[in-house]
Amino acid sequence: MYEEIIPFLKCPYCNNPLDLIDSEKKKEEIVNGKLKCNCEELWEIRDGVLDFRVEEQESVNRWSELTKEMSFEELDEMILKYTPQNQKEISRKSIEDILDYLKLNKPKIVIDIATGRGSLLNELVKQLKSEFHLVCIDLSFVVLKADREKIKKFNPKIKVSFVSCDATNLPFFENCFDLALSLMGIANMRDLIFKALKETCRVLKPNHHFLNSTLIVELNSKGYEKLEEVVGSQVLKTYNKYLVRTEVINFHKKAGFREAVFKMSGESIGQKNELDLLPFEGEWFAIGNIYAKK
Ligand SMILES: C[S@@+](CC[C@H](N)C(=O)[O-])C[C@H]1O[C@@H](n2cnc3c(N)ncnc32)[C@H](O)[C@@H]1O
Ligand SMILES: [Zn+2]
Repeated sequence: MYEEIIPFLKCPYCNNPLDLIDSEKKKEEIVNGKLKCNCEELWEIRDGVLDFRVEEQESVNRWSELTKEMSFEELDEMILKYTPQNQKEISRKSIEDILDYLKLNKPKIVIDIATGRGSLLNELVKQLKSEFHLVCIDLSFVVLKADREKIKKFNPKIKVSFVSCDATNLPFFENCFDLALSLMGIANMRDLIFKALKETCRVLKPNHHFLNSTLIVELNSKGYEKLEEVVGSQVLKTYNKYLVRTEVINFHKKAGFREAVFKMSGESIGQKNELDLLPFEGEWFAIGNIYAKK
């Protein structure tokens, strides 16, 4: 984590600013340290990652457990092997669309929400130089720790701050970031999508963009029926239409964005998919970015 983000940080318990009271740096990066709040809470920086002590997701993306059985590298290989080819190609195009936006607009400070295994982070770090500061957040401390180690190999110059925290209660003050990104991150938060969108809007500067990469499917489809079986109709009720084009736009507007436009990166028919429920085999889907402006 880099010192520049400290003025942006607030305590997730009481919303007060935080003071750095202890730090060990490697070059400019704080690799170990402590931040203190007025409420006496101490937040630790360990292995370069600021830890707000949040739990990993309940039923999916439990990285600590998954990596007991296989390494992160093996997990990445498995995901790559089982993701259908057409889905990989369209996802790749949606990442390129994000990179084009960054090259054109040159934001100085960017937040990536739900960085996970960092498909987006990896490309940002490989393809862009060092002139911007990226803040990566995720519920999982272990996934961010592994991401940090990985990107140091690709591009040791780029400034990336890693913060383990909850996207529905971001530990940042309002109007901090020039750009917000999320690649299938918020889109996967199920009943928490709306809360996470509102928080993203809050921390973004006015007139700035959130590029939210999302999958779109048809409402009346077998994929939707299956989703309901898995997550339960009660949970699905709160976010079920999120995956439909017109509704995804409304979600962003209700969350506080002034404008929201879906730009399709590609569309296809779902192939056999052993990893995810959607895209569903034999059914139409599209992947693209919602360009939401605060
Ligand atoms: C499918 S991954 C996102 C893919 C990733 N953006 C990429 O570029 O590869 C989903 C991630 O969302 C994270 N996540 C889920 N709910 C979250 C929340 N409330 N706050 C922060 N991260 C969350 C999970 O821990 C997981 O790492
Ligand atoms: Zn506090």
